[in-house]
Amino acid sequence: MISKYTTLTGAEEDQRLDVQNSVLCHFDRDVYDNVFRKKGCPAILDVGCGTGNMIRKMLEDIASYKLIGVDKVERQIHIAEKNHTSGRFLTLDVEQEDFASLIRPVMEEEGIGGFDVINCSMVVLHMQNPVGALSRLRTLLAPNGTIVVRDIDDGLQYAWPDPEKRFEKLFMMLENDVRMGDRHCGRKIYSYLTNAGFQNIRLNKVGLASTSLKDKMLLFDLAIPTLLHFYEQRHLDAPNNLQWKKDFEWFKDNIVAMKDSFGKEDFVFSAGFMNFTAE
Ligand SMILES: C[S@@+](CC[C@H](N)C(=O)[O-])C[C@H]1O[C@@H](n2cnc3c(N)ncnc32)[C@H](O)[C@@H]1O
Repeated sequence: MISKYTTLTGAEEDQRLDVQNSVLCHFDRDVYDNVFRKKGCPAILDVGCGTGNMIRKMLEDIASYKLIGVDKVERQIHIAEKNHTSGRFLTLDVEQEDFASLIRPVMEEEGIGGFDVINCSMVVLHMQNPVGALSRLRTLLAPNGTIVVRDIDDGLQYAWPDPEKRFEKLFMMLENDVRMGDRHCGRKIYSYLTNAGFQNIRLNKVGLASTSLKDKMLLFDLAIPTLLHFYEQRHLDAPNNLQWKKDFEWFKDNIVAMKDSFGKEDFVFSAGFMNFTAE
């Protein structure tokens, strides 16, 4: 299936996701802990597992779980296999109509009737038909199983003070960039889960604001420098696109000033992460 959104993968994106997962561990670790603790010794499906680092960070005793990770990008699955000493990792697209029938034989091999936990971290924003994919996933949940959906909504993102409106401009650029997925996906997830037939839907966390210097600099590393690289790449891929050239040059000229802002005592930055659970 050709996706409306291009998923960014590569060493640079893997590194960005590592920083993101270090920050997000503090954001919703308690939610994940509760879900995993409640379920005892569960079977877990990690959808869009990427390099497998996110789930590894969340589960210290990972070898005691029956873990299946799926990602539509084969490169990510190869890395995940290297990063994990246990678990099964499969190149599969959850948006494929026959996803459930492709994964069921593997579940049977692993003695999994249904998943106790399905994890969907930063994946729904890349989906073309989230309700379709979530409906498919629902059929794979064990009775009383839980899905965790963690995603982004840039409507919750802010940076202040922003006297030169640099962050305002950057956020607008991001919003209009299809490579970044649906940047307003977070607000839609409740409706997606409802329409996919889930129950007991809970919004557990909304927005990640940081005021301590250490956290702010982590968020800077997470949110800003790799974006510059993406904008450079976009410009290099289409050097005749004057708007993309302008965007890249503006970004390059302003990134130092943005970093200075993050280092200021009175500066606050909020990233628009959201975390839902449903059954
Ligand atoms: C932003 S990364 C998130 C990786 C990881 N879940 C995390 O939170 O760090 C999104 C991942 O989802 C994968 N992905 C996107 N759409 C997918 C789909 N339809 N089926 C399976 N994987 C998908 C991408 O290849 C990518 O590895």
